[in-house]
Amino acid sequence: MRRVLVINGPNLNMLGIRDTEMYGSGTLDDLVALCRSWGEDVGIEVRAFQSNHEGAIIDVLHDARDAFDGVVINPGAYAHTSYAIRDAIDAIGIPVIEVHISNVMEREAWRRASVTAPACTGTIYGRGVEGYRWAIRKLWFDHRVPPDIVAYGDAADQTGDLRVPGPGRPLVVLVHGGFWRRPWTRDLMDGLAVDLFDLGLATLNIEYRRIGSGGGWPTSADDVVAALGWSSDRFERTILIGHSAGGHLALAAALQFPVDLVISLAGVTDLAAAVADNLGDGAAEAFLNGADRAAASPLEMLPLARRQLIVHGTDDETVPVSYARRYVDAARTAGDSAELLELPDVGHMELIDERSHAWRVVADRMAGLL
Ligand code: DQA
Repeated sequence: MRRVLVINGPNLNMLGIRDTEMYGSGTLDDLVALCRSWGEDVGIEVRAFQSNHEGAIIDVLHDARDAFDGVVINPGAYAHTSYAIRDAIDAIGIPVIEVHISNVMEREAWRRASVTAPACTGTIYGRGVEGYRWAIRKLWFDHRVPPDIVAYGDAADQTGDLRVPGPGRPLVVLVHGGFWRRPWTRDLMDGLAVDLFDLGLATLNIEYRRIGSGGGWPTSADDVVAALGWSSDRFERTILIGHSAGGHLALAAALQFPVDLVISLAGVTDLAAAVADNLGDGAAEAFLNGADRAAASPLEMLPLARRQLIVHGTDDETVPVSYARRYVDAARTAGDSAELLELPDVGHMELIDERSHAWRVVADRMAGLL
């Protein structure tokens, strides 16, 4: 994967002028500069194109077939109407990721459907302009180590990306975070999945039902349990890694299903505190949706009776490090073997950045525990 084309459709030339609450104050030029630098981060040359005309976008998609290895497209409102753009995406046979800056699922009903998305390899929405960064990364990691997309259940979200470097390897099941909300999907963990593959481990980077797509407590955790069941039929040893809200789900699932090691990265280990601290703007309350908090909170489920590595950065502003300290104290008091790995000067997202020093420390510690 050397060259990626970023296509912006109608009205995206108005970025910085148009509804800045919704789309941000940066201009299209700012966005293109960001995309170039995000491409450079993974060694990809990014070119950009914008048009307000359907036919022009289709012509550029056709030309991309020979000139580019992948496309990131924000079709704007054409996403909701243009079967012609969908056919063009279908026709060119190179990976295409659809991006929307805004959370289209929580706007007018007509924005919730995309006719172009089914032809794409993935869709990322509701993450602001950062969505383009995640899209470029996804193209890169899918190309580096193409995953087998497997279904561990019947629901659309009961799926995962499986990467197996060879027979007899332990499997690492990855559970992404994002406060259990729908715009955050498993591409968050792509970097770790490919890094672990390079270290010789099999990985299953799972999706699960989230708030707004049938998830919440206990469904989201049940999905992780189902993924572990699927895995145990195929792999002898399983390590479960969850980040943030995924750390919560990993601990909750490990209570119900045996794993060799569970690792929480910046995990939401205490739901009572998450509600009181209003983490993620009411996320824990929305997740519980009236369910019994004690039954859903890892801190209150102890002992877990599994080997646990609880990792947290001291500079985490999304989930405070005190969550990890409190949890590990309580786990040890309850008789669990829980190790606290507190990383100085590390924030929330470094832990899932495959190039960060923090992740190297975690990967080394994990190797020591295997
Ligand atoms: C958009 C969402 C579309 O519904 C809208 O028509 C746009 C922008 C987005 O990036 O959020 O023009 O694609």
